[in-house]
Amino acid sequence: MDTQTIGEEEWNELQKNLTETIPVYDRVNRFATLGQVGRWRRIVRSLLPQGRLLEIGCGPGSFAEGVEGRELVCLDPIPEMIEVARLRVNAERERRRDPPATFVEGTAENLPFEDNSFDSICTLFSFRDWFDKRAGLQESLRVLRPGAKMVIIDPAKVNRVHGLMGVLWMKIWVGAYARFVCGKRDHPWKWLTKTYSAFGTTRDYVRMLEEVGFENVRSRVLFPGMATVWSGQAPDSD
Ligand SMILES: C[S@@+](CC[C@H](N)C(=O)[O-])C[C@H]1O[C@@H](n2cnc3c(N)ncnc32)[C@H](O)[C@@H]1O
Repeated sequence: MDTQTIGEEEWNELQKNLTETIPVYDRVNRFATLGQVGRWRRIVRSLLPQGRLLEIGCGPGSFAEGVEGRELVCLDPIPEMIEVARLRVNAERERRRDPPATFVEGTAENLPFEDNSFDSICTLFSFRDWFDKRAGLQESLRVLRPGAKMVIIDPAKVNRVHGLMGVLWMKIWVGAYARFVCGKRDHPWKWLTKTYSAFGTTRDYVRMLEEVGFENVRSRVLFPGMATVWSGQAPDSD
């Protein structure tokens, strides 16, 4: 595992662990982020333009259920995640009289969509888990329309020292709660620490977004320094 890739065996193991998180996913996330995760999701929503939206790595639908009044496609490689998200998100959309969202099984690295087919893409707490981040960004660029926007959010790592503090936070604070909630020492949040340890810095992914071809790339570390949001735009056609 490094800043750009995760090997096949490790990624399969990670996916098994992510499946195990489903029943307590939102509860542990709220605790781990000191209740900030809802505010961060609202910030991501506010950065997304109107039009057809793709969420890559939708997980159990924690972000997607709050997306209002636009066409929504949710993608995830884990069938169990998709089933939970479909029920949750579409129940909420029906209540609001929005058309149902579409759910697709797949990975960021091989998006099963046509070129130029989305007005925006977002990916929340999933980019860190992509097995080939550069390939996933290239695929995202391919399916975005000219001028369309990509927004990414993941745990922040500004530099090595900040990264070390993040690892301690995840191991001690999140680890203790996850052990309690899951009722076992070998809980699936151990993989959060593993993927975060291998994750690059904010600047690494600014560079990667630019190298892949995104324009107007920006990054912002969100209060209290636990998450970074990146955004970039597909080049205009002319
Ligand atoms: C921690 S969950 C995030 C769920 C949700 N987006 C949220 O806001 O909480 C990460 C999700 O990313 C998915 N994922 C992992 N690798 C992926 C890949 N290569 N392509 C697309 N999704 C991936 C996982 O299956 C998992 O459901």
